[in-house]
Amino acid sequence: MIAALLLLLPLPLLLYMAAPRIREMLSSGVCTSPVQLPGKVAVVTGANTGIGKETAKELAKRGARVYLACRDVQKGELVAKEIQTKTGNQQVLVRKLDLADTRSIRAFAQGFLAEEKQLHILINNAGVMMCPYSKTVDGFEMHMGVNHLGHFLLTHLLLEKLKASAPARVVNVSSLAHFLGRLNFHNLQGEKFYNAGLAYCQSKLANVLFTQELARRLKGSGVTTYAVHPGSVNSELTRYSTFMTCMWWLFSCFLKTPEQGAQTSLHCALTEGLERLSGEYFSDCRVGWVSAQARNETVARRLWDVSCDLLGLPLD
Ligand SMILES: NC(=O)c1ccc[n+]([C@@H]2O[C@H](COP(=O)([O-])OP(=O)(O)OC[C@H]3O[C@@H](n4cnc5c(N)ncnc54)[C@H](OP(=O)(O)O)[C@@H]3O)[C@@H](O)[C@H]2O)c1
Repeated sequence: MIAALLLLLPLPLLLYMAAPRIREMLSSGVCTSPVQLPGKVAVVTGANTGIGKETAKELAKRGARVYLACRDVQKGELVAKEIQTKTGNQQVLVRKLDLADTRSIRAFAQGFLAEEKQLHILINNAGVMMCPYSKTVDGFEMHMGVNHLGHFLLTHLLLEKLKASAPARVVNVSSLAHFLGRLNFHNLQGEKFYNAGLAYCQSKLANVLFTQELARRLKGSGVTTYAVHPGSVNSELTRYSTFMTCMWWLFSCFLKTPEQGAQTSLHCALTEGLERLSGEYFSDCRVGWVSAQARNETVARRLWDVSCDLLGLPLD
């Protein structure tokens, strides 16, 4: 017994020493595309921090005009300055977008459509995780409202511009957590039962299903779409959960940096020849596995119709 304990004693030290190597293994997947983006226009939601900020920075570095679509414009302006300084690209613009308010989403889209002739890359990145039960301005459960419905509406409003700018791409940042998600159509707004973790998983499953259905509907349009799992990334995402914040802190040496977390989004936005994989789910810059429910076309169609209904969009 004592001998076994003595053998286990150096384990934490060994783990600590091996952490950089383990993190390297867990963060495989680097966007190697050499594509440059002069004259191209990109929108990144939730670009004031974390994965979104790093995604926007790389797009700016490659010469795109990048819109940081943020709910906190002041934070966004600071980040825009930082990106401008680091990349030398002055075409980094901040616009207000609160995905928890459909009026804000419509105002953002209206402003963007009036301002820009083209849109080549839309990165639906913003997200919330494990918030206490709350609703958006329009009465949607917060995870469903921000992570799925907000991006669903935004994409709808920008779709004609994307088609007119083809080839164009839509990247939806989902998560491996979609595996634990179930689309509970009888309790979509969490009114009968609510669990913050499951609500997050459900919204991330909705991201994957939305991507598949969107790809089917966009076939032949020149606009393609991809769902992404960025990996486990050291960001502010855990802010609403003390438990997750502690776990993230404890395992921080194994987590990806936000820059590493941005690689799969960048891969899907930039890599040439990915068009035939429209609708797929990517992880570590490769096509990844999705759950059985995430492959269910009937559920994807139903989610599309329900989302249109909730948002007052015409069914087509
Ligand atoms: N981190 C991970 O390990 C991980 C794993 C799998 C998937 N993901 C996904 O990756 C994406 C980016 O997450 P992250 O890790 O970079 O988290 P983060 O650092 O918390 O960034 C989230 C971004 O979303 C924005 N946001 C939240 N609510 C919004 C709203 N109502 N309207 C507009 N923007 C809003 C935040 O803005 P504020 O700063 O103003 O709040 C922030 O810019 C999310 O979709 C997340 O689900 C992350």
